[in-house]
Amino acid sequence: MKLNIALLAGDGIGPEVIDQAVKVSNAIAAKFNHEISWTPALTGAAAIDDCGEPYPDSTHAVCEAADAVLFGAIGHPRFDNDPSAKVRPEQGLLKMRQKLGLFANVRPTFTFPSLIDKSPLKKERIEGTDLIILRELTGGVYFGERGRKDDGNTAFDTMTYKREEITRLAKKGFELAMTRGKKLCCVDKANVLESSRLWRETVQAMEKDYPEVEVSYEFVDAVAMRLVQWPSSYDVMITANLFGDILTDEASVISGSMGLMPSASVGEKTKLYEPIHGSYPQAAGKDIANPLATVLSAAMLFEDFGLTEEATLIRTVVNKSLAEGVVTEDLAEGVVTEDLAEGGKAYKTSEVGDWLAKNI
Ligand code: IPM
Ligand code: MN
Repeated sequence: MKLNIALLAGDGIGPEVIDQAVKVSNAIAAKFNHEISWTPALTGAAAIDDCGEPYPDSTHAVCEAADAVLFGAIGHPRFDNDPSAKVRPEQGLLKMRQKLGLFANVRPTFTFPSLIDKSPLKKERIEGTDLIILRELTGGVYFGERGRKDDGNTAFDTMTYKREEITRLAKKGFELAMTRGKKLCCVDKANVLESSRLWRETVQAMEKDYPEVEVSYEFVDAVAMRLVQWPSSYDVMITANLFGDILTDEASVISGSMGLMPSASVGEKTKLYEPIHGSYPQAAGKDIANPLATVLSAAMLFEDFGLTEEATLIRTVVNKSLAEGVVTEDLAEGVVTEDLAEGGKAYKTSEVGDWLAKNI
């Protein structure tokens, strides 16, 4: 297969983790006779420095023309500490999601056998966890009306949802549930928010079209608790943009490190694959960040193109690296492997990438 992939490395550790995903993907291409052409483009702080725009039109053109986008991370501390900054790197990410129509963000949470003791949660709680949080990505409070009034002394952000936005996301949720455990949980705050009541109403009306799917409705605060208490009780969750942002960070703890969780964003145009973690500026340029979330995002990309064997091989090799203790420092301590009793050597980001590519 010929694949043209837009490569948006972004900020912070983005370029380092992206490099490893490229190595791994190129190894896959060589082994299975695929042809991948990578088209790099600027986004985030790097793009602001270049042209004053975090998601320039030229980058959008590259993404639109590509078969898929592989994305690293966005964000830079020099903007975080400056509330008056007019342009922020994160705006680039939001603009990209909106312009590419990426309304559904698929964020799986699963455990790795060799890391089961590494999670801060008890083994018997997390064993068997295999859930997907389907986060609405182009609406809600992220995109609602916002501003200041009263001479800047009052600020507001609005959570707005249209029925059709909920329907298209819920449809994906139902369809996904049908391919898996046939359970769908609608996560909202319908005891308080009108937009959440529209979510419930909309999803309830769709239940009859998917009689095999067992649907539940839970409040987001309760889910925040149950997610770490009984994660294996969930299958597919659908939720609003902000709730999904928060819950997916929480869910990443289950696997043992935020550096492990991949995601896919899908919608109207080119699909995008990215780790759920951020730009981790403290680690930028140090070759210490965990590249596995990005590598596993590349596996999701291959899977979506029907290249299941390729995706499976990436996951197998990732599992092997974890089992053999070829891990970055976030996982080095406490990893229990066959030859390392406990607490192994920390590998560099690039060494993990090299090892994965070689093993493919
Ligand atoms: C994520 C990130 C982004 C979000 C930020 C960087 C804007 O946290 O992808 O989860 O909030 O969506
Ligand atoms: Mn987030």
